[in-house]
Amino acid sequence: MLDKVKDLIGDVQSFKSTSKEEIEAFRIKYLGSKGLLKELFNEFKTVDASLKKDLGQALNNLRNAASNKVQELNDSLENQIESKSIYGDLTRPAEPIELGSRHPISIVRNRIIEVFSKIGFTVSEGPEIEDDWHNFTALNLPEYHPARDMQDTFFIEQNPDILLRTHTSSVQVRYMEENEPPIRTISPGRVFRNEDISARAHCIFHQVEGLYIDTDVSFADLKQTLLYFTKEMFGKSKIRLRPSYFPFTEPSAEVDIYWGLETEIDHKITKGTGWLEIMGCGMVDPNVLKNANIDSEKYTGYAFGMGIERIAMLLYQIPDIRMFYENDVRFLEQFKSVL
Ligand code: PHE
Repeated sequence: MLDKVKDLIGDVQSFKSTSKEEIEAFRIKYLGSKGLLKELFNEFKTVDASLKKDLGQALNNLRNAASNKVQELNDSLENQIESKSIYGDLTRPAEPIELGSRHPISIVRNRIIEVFSKIGFTVSEGPEIEDDWHNFTALNLPEYHPARDMQDTFFIEQNPDILLRTHTSSVQVRYMEENEPPIRTISPGRVFRNEDISARAHCIFHQVEGLYIDTDVSFADLKQTLLYFTKEMFGKSKIRLRPSYFPFTEPSAEVDIYWGLETEIDHKITKGTGWLEIMGCGMVDPNVLKNANIDSEKYTGYAFGMGIERIAMLLYQIPDIRMFYENDVRFLEQFKSVL
C-alpha cells in the first residue's frame, strides 16, 4: 500500500492542466468526499499497527500534495485570466451609472417642438449674434423707429450693426429668405436683452418663434393653432387675445392663458390675476414678406413668439427665473424623472 501511495504522490506532483474543469475533476478525484484519499484513509484503519507510522505520513504527504497542487493550478489560472482581460475582471458587478437630468428649459422646449411637429411644423434655427437687418430692419423696424426702444439691445463692440438678437423673430426673416412658401416652422433659441435682472426677468432667456406662410392663411387659423397648442401643452384652453402692437405683425395680439390661482406660486407668477401672458402673435406684416422676397399679394401668414422660461415656471411652479441659470444641482436633480 505504501508503494501505491508513493506512486500517487508522483502522479499528483506531475499533474498539469490549464483547464478549470480538469482541475476540478482532479480535486474531486483526490480530495472529494468519495475521493481516493477518503478511500485510502479508510483502508489505513485496517492495516497492521507496525505499518501505520510510515503509511500515515505518506498519506498526509499525498493529501498535502494534492491540495497544494489544486491551489497552485487555480492561482495560475486566475492570473492568466487577469492578464488576458484588458477590461479587468468582467465578472465584477457593474458600477451604478448616475443618470443626469435634462434642464427644465430643454424639457419645455422639446415639448413645444413635439406639440407643433404634430401639426406639420419643422424646426429651424438662426444665429445668436445677428445683424441689424434680420433683428430689426427687415422686421419693419427701420432705424429711428421708436419701437426699437421696446427692446434694449446688447451691441457687440460698439458696432450698431452687430448685436445679440433680442428675439427669435430674426429667424423668421432668415427662413423666409431661404425657403419658398408654404412655410411652417418653429425656431427655438436664446435671446438677449439689456434688462434689469429680477425674479421675473433676465437678460438672457429663451423663446420659440412660429411662422406659417401660405395662400389664404387667416387670423382664425392662428387662433385655432393657439387653442390647439394651449390644450396640448397645458391641458387648459381658456385663453384670451389682447390687441397689441408689434411692427412685424398686423393685426397683433398678446396671448394670455388662464392658469388659476391654486398655489402661492400661481399668485406670484400671475401677479394675483390668474392670467399670464405667454406669447405675442399676429398676421405677418406685408412689408416683412416683401423684405424677404415673398409675394405679399399671393401669400399671407401668421407668426408668434413665446418665452420658454415663463411656461416652465408655470408648469413646474418655479418662483424665480434666476433659478434656471444658477445650475444648482439640488434644483436640477428635481427634473430627473421628467423626460
Ligand atoms: N418677437 C416678439 C417679442 O419678442 C414676439 C412676437 C413674435 C410677436 C412673433 C409677434 C409675432 O416680444
